[in-house]
Amino acid sequence: MFVTVSLLLVILCVQGGHGEGREEAQRPGHVSVVIVGATGDLAKKYLWKGFFQLYVNQVSRGNTFSFYGGGLSPADKATPLFFEILKAVSCPKDVSQERCALLKEQFLRLSQYRQLKTLEHYQDLAKRIEKHHQDEGMTEAGRLFYLSVPAFAYADIADKINNSCRPTGGAWLRVVLEKPFGHDFASAQVLASQLESSLREQEMYRIDHYLGKQVIAKILPFRIENKKFLDPIWNRHHIERVEIVLKETLDVKGRIPFYDQYGVIRDVIQNHLTEVMMLLTMRLPLNLSSSEEVARNKLRILSSVLPLVKTQAVIGQYRAYKSEVQQELNKTKGHVSLTPTFAAVLAHIDEAQYEGVPVLFISGKMLDERVGYARILFRNDVFCLQSHDSVHCKPKQIVFHFGHGSLRYPAILVSKNLFKPVSTDGEWKEVTEHSDVNVLGLPVSDYYVQTPTEQREAYEELIPHIFAGHKNSFISTENLLASWALWTPLLNSLDSSFPLIYPGGADNGDLLDVRLTGKDISYSSEVVIISPDQMGGASANGFQVIQGKFRNAEMVSAWAEELLEQLAADVQEAAEAALRESGVFHLALSGGSTPLALFHRLALHHFSFPWRDTHVWMVDERCVPLTEPESNFNALHNHLLQHVRIPYFNIHPMPVQLNHRLCVEEDRGAQLYEKELGKLVNGSSFHFVLLGAGYDGHTASLFPGAEVGELGESLVALTESPAKPHQRMSLTFSAINRAHRVALLVMGKGKHELITQLSRVQDNQGKWPVTGVKPAPGRLVWYIDYDALLG
Ligand code: BG6
Repeated sequence: MFVTVSLLLVILCVQGGHGEGREEAQRPGHVSVVIVGATGDLAKKYLWKGFFQLYVNQVSRGNTFSFYGGGLSPADKATPLFFEILKAVSCPKDVSQERCALLKEQFLRLSQYRQLKTLEHYQDLAKRIEKHHQDEGMTEAGRLFYLSVPAFAYADIADKINNSCRPTGGAWLRVVLEKPFGHDFASAQVLASQLESSLREQEMYRIDHYLGKQVIAKILPFRIENKKFLDPIWNRHHIERVEIVLKETLDVKGRIPFYDQYGVIRDVIQNHLTEVMMLLTMRLPLNLSSSEEVARNKLRILSSVLPLVKTQAVIGQYRAYKSEVQQELNKTKGHVSLTPTFAAVLAHIDEAQYEGVPVLFISGKMLDERVGYARILFRNDVFCLQSHDSVHCKPKQIVFHFGHGSLRYPAILVSKNLFKPVSTDGEWKEVTEHSDVNVLGLPVSDYYVQTPTEQREAYEELIPHIFAGHKNSFISTENLLASWALWTPLLNSLDSSFPLIYPGGADNGDLLDVRLTGKDISYSSEVVIISPDQMGGASANGFQVIQGKFRNAEMVSAWAEELLEQLAADVQEAAEAALRESGVFHLALSGGSTPLALFHRLALHHFSFPWRDTHVWMVDERCVPLTEPESNFNALHNHLLQHVRIPYFNIHPMPVQLNHRLCVEEDRGAQLYEKELGKLVNGSSFHFVLLGAGYDGHTASLFPGAEVGELGESLVALTESPAKPHQRMSLTFSAINRAHRVALLVMGKGKHELITQLSRVQDNQGKWPVTGVKPAPGRLVWYIDYDALLG
């Protein structure tokens, strides 16, 4: 039913001021709470306590409640256990024993267990709820379903709820879901679309319990309250580094069937720590209670995180994990799992405010202590010669201390050499009595410390938000998918990487310390210990870069990723050499899809590349406006130029459009480019030219059959392509062969045939234009990946 009227509902919702992300108005009435998975661990430990607390707080505020515990077991079997759990629920601290006993009795009377397995069970539940309303003459406020069940059951339960349990007459429906929300981008997308066929976005509450932790929930309010102090320093000029850390001492024994498929990045980094990163770096919302604005700003910052590649992560696995896996998954002694139980990932955000600021995510099991925190470490530009103990010499930092650790309580700590934070929130207080502990290198007395007046569990915080329809602390579909889009490529690239084996606990010593070098991260202990049995049968040699000869020129070959790494390093080396010699680097780049991966790599490592003194030229261009997606310049702009700090004056697109027309000989575009080249590039000799090779043997836009050898001395010419758009502008062999260095990049299985042919044929520019690339006295290097080389 929902599916057919969903469009109408969306229109009504928007028109009625009830749109996506806006909080639903609370009308008093009867609320039915249904926990599916009512006797499971989570429900037992947190959920019933949270809902009892909700009941205690709401009972005098005009709402009435019914509580249903649902599960697969029949009612006669599960009911005793269900009531045992409910009876054991503790009382809120601020309620007297007597009052609590009374309320508990009422709570038990309002609760019942129901088997929820088949559609009929859900239909019966709906009938029961409706009859209850009729019998008691109550208005319905809403229905809250909390799915505390494995994620594979979500789609089916959501479908049953949609088919049988939707309230009518303007009451709300809210369905709460617990992670995991997928395993990677594709599976998260499938789950999201399954859920979307049953539930509206505003009805779904995806829980990330970290958003209910008091310190994390306070990050945005803290940033707003202290805006006047933070605005001048919350940027790349002052922030040295951001660290988001979750250290745990426990292992994952008992959870291996789940954990072995997920690992630490999926388990806590993709969700909990990423949420913290967004709260720390997102643009502050004008209206903190607008979940729409908060979600939008979060999405924006998440989308600005630069793509993560393998060199930006290190992974580890605690030593005993292997045997735990063998035991819990019934595997043989030889079985090896590569699942990481520890990871450190270095990210960067592509926003001017945070350019170059390392954002470090770290989490692991079996570490030396249990602690969670986010630290903003500021630069300290004071050089202390002798007075190391004075306050201005000490680290300047803000620590959002989620809990545990040596401090033992949740707190926000601001080092005293920064500023004294303000708090307008009565639920937080300043701590002035300090125990003798250190927090991240500073005695706690060197900080201004704020802590919640009353400590509450994450679920106690989140359940009232669900009840109130506040969506701020929950994950929207769009943000969930954006987070997976960020993490999935990294997860894929780490798929067959060997984790560093660590002993666990204090014995880890400095083994898991990491070093940040530019964009990359590595273990700081140089020797990576991989025990032979962890290696299984794989050989580490498969990943080498090899040097050889191809068509009498130099050749570098490797798997794609390593090949691009080598090529990027060679471009950089050429740039640095050119700068030393002439103070400027002239680089000509070709179009097509092969160089895009190199562009990404150059964009990722742009911090260390001398873009300021680099001039970028085009090897060739298609005769289309530069704003069109087919334009080579357009691709170069989107994949590289917009990500690097290169002066506009150093960018030289080809003038294919002059006098409002494209590539007309009389407009003399080619000559114009040649003139510019002659004026700026010494001897018209580029320092580096990047070329590709087409299946038909073309290079630049010099195609077989065309009279490419007859372009004489011209450096730039209009040429014809067999593919659309037919007209091109291209550097000629005269220009290419004057370069100091030429790289010919050939990648992918599809090019294997070409490489085989090229390895056999004689030079023949007319038939195989690429064979005409012979820089003299420059150097030609072929970069051919293993797929193209070996097929
Ligand atoms: C859970 C993870 O989401 O978060 C666990 O599945 C992890 O592996 C836990 O231990 C950490 O939460 P907290 O609240 O104990 O820091």
